[in-house]
Amino acid sequence: MNQKPLFIRNASQLVTLEGSSEVPLTGEKMEQLHIIEGGSVWLEDGVIQFVGKDVEVEKAYKNRLDEAEIIDASGKLVTPGLVDPHTHLVHAGSRENEFNMRLQGASYMEIMNNGGGIHSTTSATRKADHQTLFDESKKRLDQFLTHGVTTVEAKSGYGLTLEDEMKQLEVAGQLHENHQIDIVRTFMGAHAVPAEYKENPEAFVDYVINEMIPEVARRELAEFNDVFCERGVFTPEQSKRILEAGVEHGLPAKIHADEIEPYEGAELAASVGAVSAEHLLKASDKGIKMLAEKGVIAVLLPGTAFFLMAESANGRKMIDAGVPVALSTDCNPGSSPTVSMPLIMNLGCLKMGMTPAEVLSAATINAAHAINRGKEIGSLEKGKKADVTIFDVPNYMGLQYRYGVNHVETVIKEGSVVAHKGRLV
Ligand code: NIG
Ligand code: FE
Repeated sequence: MNQKPLFIRNASQLVTLEGSSEVPLTGEKMEQLHIIEGGSVWLEDGVIQFVGKDVEVEKAYKNRLDEAEIIDASGKLVTPGLVDPHTHLVHAGSRENEFNMRLQGASYMEIMNNGGGIHSTTSATRKADHQTLFDESKKRLDQFLTHGVTTVEAKSGYGLTLEDEMKQLEVAGQLHENHQIDIVRTFMGAHAVPAEYKENPEAFVDYVINEMIPEVARRELAEFNDVFCERGVFTPEQSKRILEAGVEHGLPAKIHADEIEPYEGAELAASVGAVSAEHLLKASDKGIKMLAEKGVIAVLLPGTAFFLMAESANGRKMIDAGVPVALSTDCNPGSSPTVSMPLIMNLGCLKMGMTPAEVLSAATINAAHAINRGKEIGSLEKGKKADVTIFDVPNYMGLQYRYGVNHVETVIKEGSVVAHKGRLV
């Protein structure tokens, strides 16, 4: 890589989150950010080379200081690049009309069961070509970047035919190649039963299992397999079959679980050995205990609860029970049209009883683990990718205290400045 070294100096707080690359943080460990006051980091060849007090880094590189681009981070907070482990990034169109209907009393599931919701985005996405999907999704990715996010998971699930699911995954792959943000892909053919299978949902489940999953796996279009396990969508039995089929084809399981109603989704996630269970607004105590026992990561989406005007998942209870917790936007056109991980962290504190330290652990290293990237990203440690976010606040608590504001000043991806003061560089 032909770039200058980047020397970020003297942050008032440099949050390293070191020592948790192997397993996600749980319980009290989620409070331990490993902060260096007056911290600095030397980035070179796309990788973190040295992390320490400013004097230590300066001493280590004293003969090469002239070569480096220097960022003075005094008075600022420096963290690992934020990671968003659950999005529906690639889709066409938007659903303001449904938002308006919900504000007047219609429910999310009513709208979906009447042919709107996921079905409405599915028809828009089926009609869109690769370029349109690329352009619409790229705009969102640019916004993710200016909000401090350097890696994003992206699910399919608005195609619901093999061809249209592959189209979404291919576009996600093109975005990964052409955008600074890294994208990790998840197949979610079981996002809804499409209208053409309404009378015979079992036949759609068979189609997902026998045709979609094998082909997506064969073409290496995704790393995970997800399902919307919810009353009126896919039953726990159908979800189990779909997730096991994914595992057989090398796609570890993720699951949209217990979002609208309690449906033993957390229990299912634990029993199939899922990497993560997501949503969990209505997870049972038994399910939470099982997640903790199996080390399944709870990916919590407080923006979705906020936007659906529902009670948030109980993040506090899950952390106290020993479940590794991660946070995500769930960015999608129906239940959470946001790209702001900073806002999600605010909601984690204000609506789920999490502390400012816990939400930062959840949006970095634990989010990285939720997409099997704990060894590469999510903390500031020698050898990891040089993905760094600088916030214009003096300490990590300020990020949550001055809520609702994008405090991101500079975003660094693999050692290069890619965004500054809300603009792409
Ligand atoms: O995570 N619950 C299912 N899927 C998405 C919403 C998708 C949509 O409404 O378009 C979610 O909330
Ligand atoms: Fe989702």
